This record gives sequence, C-alpha cells and structure tokens, in this order.
Amino acid sequence: MSKILENQKITEDFYLMKVEQDNDASMGQFYMLRAWDKYPLLSRPISVYDADEKTVSFLYKVVGQGTEIFKELKSGDEITLDGPHGNGFPDATGKIALVGGGVGVAPLYLTAKKLKEAHPEATVDMFLGFSGEAMLVDAYEAAADSVTVNVGGFVTDDIDPTKYDVIMTCGPEIMMKVLYKKCVSVGATAPLYVSMENRMACGIGACLVCTCKTANGNKRACKDGPVMLGSEVFGNE
Ligand SMILES: Cc1cc2nc3c(=O)[nH]c(=O)nc-3n(C[C@H](O)[C@H](O)[C@H](O)COP(=O)(O)OP(=O)(O)OC[C@H]3O[C@@H](n4cnc5c(N)ncnc54)[C@H](O)[C@@H]3O)c2cc1C
Ligand code: FES
Repeated sequence: MSKILENQKITEDFYLMKVEQDNDASMGQFYMLRAWDKYPLLSRPISVYDADEKTVSFLYKVVGQGTEIFKELKSGDEITLDGPHGNGFPDATGKIALVGGGVGVAPLYLTAKKLKEAHPEATVDMFLGFSGEAMLVDAYEAAADSVTVNVGGFVTDDIDPTKYDVIMTCGPEIMMKVLYKKCVSVGATAPLYVSMENRMACGIGACLVCTCKTANGNKRACKDGPVMLGSEVFGNE
C-alpha cells in the first residue's frame, strides 16, 4: 500500500493524485490502481502524469465506479499501485511534437519533462485538445518549449506534421487515427507513436482483454504497448 500525499480537484471532472512510491517509471507507462478490497473486481489503469524517485502523480478523469472512489481519497489514505507497466514513449531528440486529447494529455507532461531533461537542445512543442475546460496549461508550458491549446475544436488541425522529426500522441483513438492520416497525406517523414488506452483487465499481458489488431498481428496494449507505431496500428485501415 502506498500513502496518498495529495488528491486535488483540478477541474469539474479531473483530479491530480500524488502518491508516495519508490519508482523508476518512464514516460508513457501506467500503473494499475486499486483503492478497494473486493469490488469493483478490477484495478484501474492510469498513466504516470509525473514522477520522481519517491513519488508518482496521476491525472485522472472521474468517469465511473473506480474513479469515483479515487476522487474521495484524502491525503494520508492508502492506495495499492501495481506497476509501472508497459512500453512507453521512446527516447527522442530534434524537433518533437506531443499531441494530446482529453485524458490523453496525462502522460505527455512527464514525456515533455524527461525529453527536455535528457536533450536540452531538443524542441518540444505540445498540442493539447480539450472538449471542455483547458487544464494545467501553466505546468505544460513549464515542461515544453511551446504549448498550443485547443478548446472545443480539433487539435489535429493545429499541427503541421512536416515540421517534426518525431511525433507522439495520446488521446481518443479517432483523434490519433486522424493524426496518422494527416501525417500520411502531407507526406510527413516523422515516425508517429500512438498510446493505446484500450480497456484492460490484468494489465500484465495475461488475459488478452486489451488485444488490438496491428499490421504485425494481434498485440496486447498493456504489455506490447501502450505505445506503438501509428503505422502499425492504423496503417492497414
Ligand atoms: C494504459 C491506460 C492508461 C490510462 N491513463 C489514464 C489517465 O492517465 N487518466 C485517466 O483519467 N484515465 C486513464 N485511462 C482510462 C482509465 O483507465 C478509465 O477511465 C478507468 O479505468 C475508468 O474506471 P471507472 O471504474 O471510473 O469507470 P468504469 O465504470 O469502468 O467505466 C466508465 C466509463 O468509462 C469508459 N472507460 C473505461 N475504461 C476506459 C478506457 N480504457 N478507455 C476509454 N474509456 C474507458 C467506460 O466505457 C465507461 O463508459 C487509461 C487507460 C489505459 C488503458
Ligand atoms: S489487460 Fe490483460 S492482457 Fe492486457
């Protein structure tokens, strides 16, 4: 069990929870979170928003039974964290674009921070799309070189993929697919990495609930991903 240090309301639906936890989490990985005994049956996968060696933070949207329980937790309460799991975003340098939509903005904060720490010479431009209220823009601005915020429109309209050496994205599958198609149609040479947030059960590659079809056969989003190449996931469609 790990101790909750903060669980702060950010907007009407979003909360930011900081937990005491020794970790070596890398960008784009996730934990399975559980703050109950028997029900609901399954732990819930949530991406690492931020981490240092002693703490991990999660930015989550309240959508159902599990996240309703998370939002009631107070500083000093305990939670079970299992992880970090999955293959996250790759190391990269040069001109990097990070494109997030909705809850998909969550893993991009640590991603921007880690990329800039490892490669101060890299340029990290973020494109964040929100259907409702924008959030944590100051934090994202501190982590990246530039942040373009889109509220209520299509964040994929804001980016010129030909300007980048590598593009990483997380958000609704339709948004990532539109971005992939845009990259192809404008002849972008940058590899596009997509983070697949399929429904999960075990989170460790055993149950196959999170299986997705790719150009290289079926893959488990939890174990083979969640980050995969866009061409692998959307290239055959
Ligand atoms: C690898 C991964 C990373 C994730 N990272 C985050 C994150 O950083 N922040 C965050 O808020 N959420 C994240 N999610 C989604 C999160 O796991 C779900 O929102 C959560 O499990 C819902 O639990 P619940 O009990 O509150 O809702 P449930 O009662 O289980 O479901 C409520 C509603 O949410 C939908 N839902 C549940 N799981 C998903 C999912 N994986 N994708 C889309 N819709 C879903 C259901 O269809 C239903 O409509 C991530 C999911 C995955 C697989
Ligand atoms: S959630 Fe069980 S294999 Fe991915």
